[in-house]
Amino acid sequence: MKKIAVFTSGGDSPGMNACIRAVVRTAIYHKMEVVGIMHGYDGVMKNEFIPMDAKSVANIIHRGGTILKTARSNEFMTLEGRQKALDNLTKAGIEGVVAIGGDGTFKGALEFSKICSIPVIGCPGTIDNDLIGTDFTIGYDTAINTVVDAVDKIRDTAESHDRLFFVEVMGRDAGLIALRAGIGVGAESILIPETKTDVEDFIKRLEGGRKNKNSKIIIVAEGDEAGGAFVIAEQVKKRLPDYDTRVTVLGHIQRGGNPSAMDRVNSSRMGFAAVEALLQGKKGVMIGIVNNTIQYTPFENAVKHIQELNPDLLRMVNILSL
Ligand code: F6P
Repeated sequence: MKKIAVFTSGGDSPGMNACIRAVVRTAIYHKMEVVGIMHGYDGVMKNEFIPMDAKSVANIIHRGGTILKTARSNEFMTLEGRQKALDNLTKAGIEGVVAIGGDGTFKGALEFSKICSIPVIGCPGTIDNDLIGTDFTIGYDTAINTVVDAVDKIRDTAESHDRLFFVEVMGRDAGLIALRAGIGVGAESILIPETKTDVEDFIKRLEGGRKNKNSKIIIVAEGDEAGGAFVIAEQVKKRLPDYDTRVTVLGHIQRGGNPSAMDRVNSSRMGFAAVEALLQGKKGVMIGIVNNTIQYTPFENAVKHIQELNPDLLRMVNILSL
C-alpha cells in the first residue's frame, strides 16, 4: 500500500485531531503518502483532497474540533454520490482509507463497500459513546468532563437559591453522557432513553426525597423519550409548584474544547492501529479499545447497537442519590 486517505465525518469530537495526527505520522513512518479529505464524504465526492506531511499535523494534538472539517452528507447516501466518490478515490490513486466518525460514518462506509474494494478502516469519533466495540469513543471523556465542569457551576447557584435544576445533555439515541456525567456530579436523578422515564413516578420520588436537601440536579439526556428537559420540567412545575425550578440546555459546548489526556491517548492509539490494520490487509472494521486492548469490530456490528448500560452503575445511581 503506497497511498492512503483520512477524513472526519459526522459530528466533530475532541480528539479527532489527535487521531488524524496519528494516522498521518504512522503512514509516513511506513513510507506511505497520505492525503487528507476535507468535509467528510462531501469532500470525497468534491475532490477536496490535500497532501499531508508530518508538519501539517504539528501542534494539533491538543486542539478540539477537526482540522479536516466535517459534515453530514445526504448525497453520499445515494448510489450516484458513492460512484462519484469511488471515481475520485481511484483517480487519486488511494489504496486505503481511514474514516473517523460515528454511526452515520460507518453506515456510509458499509454502503460504500458494496461498490468499492478499497479497504476502509474506521476510528470511533463521537461524543455519544454509542458504538459497540470500544469502551470509549473519541471525545466521550472530554464531553463528560465538560458536563461535569458546567454542572458543578450550576450546583453552586442551585444551592444558593435552593433550586431544582433540569440540565439537558447531548445524546439523541444514548444516555451514556448523562449517566457518567450524572454520577460525576452527584445528580439526584438521571433520565435516559435506555430506561423508561415515568414522569409520575419521578415526581413521587422527588416528593419522597430527602427534605433537607436544598438543591437538586436532574440530568436529562436529550433523547429521553419523555420529551427532554423543558417538557419534563413543565410537568413537574405544574405538580410541584413549591419547587423553584430552572432548565439549562448545555448544547454544543459539549462538542468543543481541548481533548482530555485520556482522549488524546486513545485517539493516538486508534489512529496508529488503523494504519497498521490497513497494512495487515484488514477492511470494513472499526478500531476500538476494549479492556485497554485494541479490537477490530466489523462495521455492521458497530452501528446501531447501543452499548448495554452497566446495571451496576444504574443500581448505584439510585442508592447514592438518596
Ligand atoms: O455527534 C453526536 C451529537 O453531538 C448528538 O449527541 C447530538 O444529538 C447531535 O450530534 C447534534 O448534531 P448537530 O450538531 O448536527 O445538530
